[in-house]
Amino acid sequence: MSRPRILVTRRWPAAAETALAERFDVTLNEADLPMTADQLRQALADYDAVLPTVSDKLPASVFEGSPRAKILGNFGVGYNHIDVAAAKAKGIAVTNTPGVLTDCTADIAMLLLLTVARRGGEGERQIRADEWKGWCPTHMIGTKVSSKTVGIIGFGRIGKAFAQRCHFGFGMDVVFYNRSKVDEAEAARYGARQLATVEDALGASDFVSLHCPGGAENRHLMNAARFAAMKKGAFLINTARGDVVDETALIAALQTGVIRGAGLDVYEAEPQVPEKLKAMENVVLLPHLGSATEETRTAMGMKVVENITAFFEGREPADRVV
Ligand code: DGY
Repeated sequence: MSRPRILVTRRWPAAAETALAERFDVTLNEADLPMTADQLRQALADYDAVLPTVSDKLPASVFEGSPRAKILGNFGVGYNHIDVAAAKAKGIAVTNTPGVLTDCTADIAMLLLLTVARRGGEGERQIRADEWKGWCPTHMIGTKVSSKTVGIIGFGRIGKAFAQRCHFGFGMDVVFYNRSKVDEAEAARYGARQLATVEDALGASDFVSLHCPGGAENRHLMNAARFAAMKKGAFLINTARGDVVDETALIAALQTGVIRGAGLDVYEAEPQVPEKLKAMENVVLLPHLGSATEETRTAMGMKVVENITAFFEGREPADRVV
């Protein structure tokens, strides 16, 4: 039997590409540039499986016609870039890669929290610009992190891993909002306590960190009213998805001092980052690096390989979304 034809939309770590090529008839996107909607539509018509990433946009229009593809093996846990209902309607399965990027994404959230609170980005820029005049008691004063309160929005795997770092690493009081009730004993394992509403968590926290999925249900969860509900002088950290935050409202909240600063790894229109954010010293900006370690990106690729192998062998993929 001929091997399924697979299109990989971006280059992967070598070990994962090798594992894929051992099992499938693989086409790589050698240029490693994001594919257009037309190219993705054509890929669905030409291949048995397409393996996209967050940099590929797959709205309903991409699924029009009679696709040959039977599965989208997404390289990533978040899948708000795929219209999964449209995929399902065409009989296309979708899988993702949960679990393997939990620690690294929680680490990046911690990095952003520390960097924005302690003004790490500003300090580095000052030294590189040869503008540091030496130590003095009032130089670049930041905000203490240890023993403060952190509010986590979304207490899934990554939210929990972040809570663990904050509580056991930095002695922080951890509160969280989660749509469904989390067992108190489970929350206590992470040194955390559940609050009833998003507003309760915002009002209690010196740092607010977003760990909920993107997509329609959480679009602009952080809007002007929610920024106003944050504690005065608090910071926002976003390693979830750009669309969870209304960027215009965020910029206004930063400009007017409603919040003190922000640490961002994700943006509404990636890779575009608003100039106004780039101009602010109290904002730390990373280029969507949450899962960007050799170990994690390889593990993500291996998960995709396992998911599509199961699918083409007639087994249920471990990480099936639809
Ligand atoms: C994820 O896995 O969701 C990362 O953000 C990369 O897409």
